[in-house]
Amino acid sequence: MRFLNFGSLNIDYVYRVHELALPGQTVSSFSESKFFGGKGAIQSAALASSGCQVFHAGKVGKDGQACIDTLKNLGVDTHLVLTGEYKTGMAIIQVDDRGQNSIIIASGANKQITTPEIDLALKEFDSDTTVLLQNETSEIGYVMRKAKEKGMKICLNPAPMDPSIRQLPLNFVDILILNEREAMGLAGGGTTREIADSLGHMLPQAEIILTLGDKGVLYHSAKQEFYVPAAESKVIDSTGASDAFLGYYMAAISQGKTIEESLKIGCIAGAICVSRPGAVESVPKKDEVEAF
Ligand code: RIB
Repeated sequence: MRFLNFGSLNIDYVYRVHELALPGQTVSSFSESKFFGGKGAIQSAALASSGCQVFHAGKVGKDGQACIDTLKNLGVDTHLVLTGEYKTGMAIIQVDDRGQNSIIIASGANKQITTPEIDLALKEFDSDTTVLLQNETSEIGYVMRKAKEKGMKICLNPAPMDPSIRQLPLNFVDILILNEREAMGLAGGGTTREIADSLGHMLPQAEIILTLGDKGVLYHSAKQEFYVPAAESKVIDSTGASDAFLGYYMAAISQGKTIEESLKIGCIAGAICVSRPGAVESVPKKDEVEAF
């Protein structure tokens, strides 16, 4: 099983604050750091760290070579990452004393990916490949349609959630991985039970994985539904935890583990990720996950 991730690559500017700034409030940060992130890049890093063959397709600006090199050093095939005229995507991230974050993205080159570029990338792949998508790059509906024509499996992480997600051909999604807030944006509010039911009605063909933070994960499909508890760790910075979870979950499934085992592995990867600052840098290595 190979993975093709049409995913974002960002430069993250991270500001540590005691409390996240509220509307109308100005707060001082007590530390500033620059990391390499992007939901797509973190997911590719997690897949590669767990031993999978992963191709990352995306776009950076001339300022983004370090992003490409970081992924390459982790074993991600980056020959489909293009360099364009727009600046590399960036994120402004506040992280508070509890490790919670709040993120603003400037998409930059991530949203300059064109349909001919997508066609060219897809040419190299067939039905033995799973496509990963988040909502930080352009033309994801087009990728979904073309990938489905080729019989490829599609895993969608609709993050960040916005109204454009409802316009996508969601009937093509095989695996939907999202957190509760994103799920509410897609399916409306309610209890976790009601949200899972609404998502199940919207996407009856899909396996739905609802990440619930420290409450664990809810797995729902037409055949079965169950919870897996979260793995515990000290939370320093929650940035990238859901992406590390996703990458390790998809890797474990592709390596023949059961759904339950794979979810547990994903939760461990997420737990290790939150215990460290940063994004791509905080993705654990396979032996760390095994040792946890
Ligand atoms: O999920 C975390 C990521 O979201 C950050 O690295 C940031 O770049 C945004 O894409």
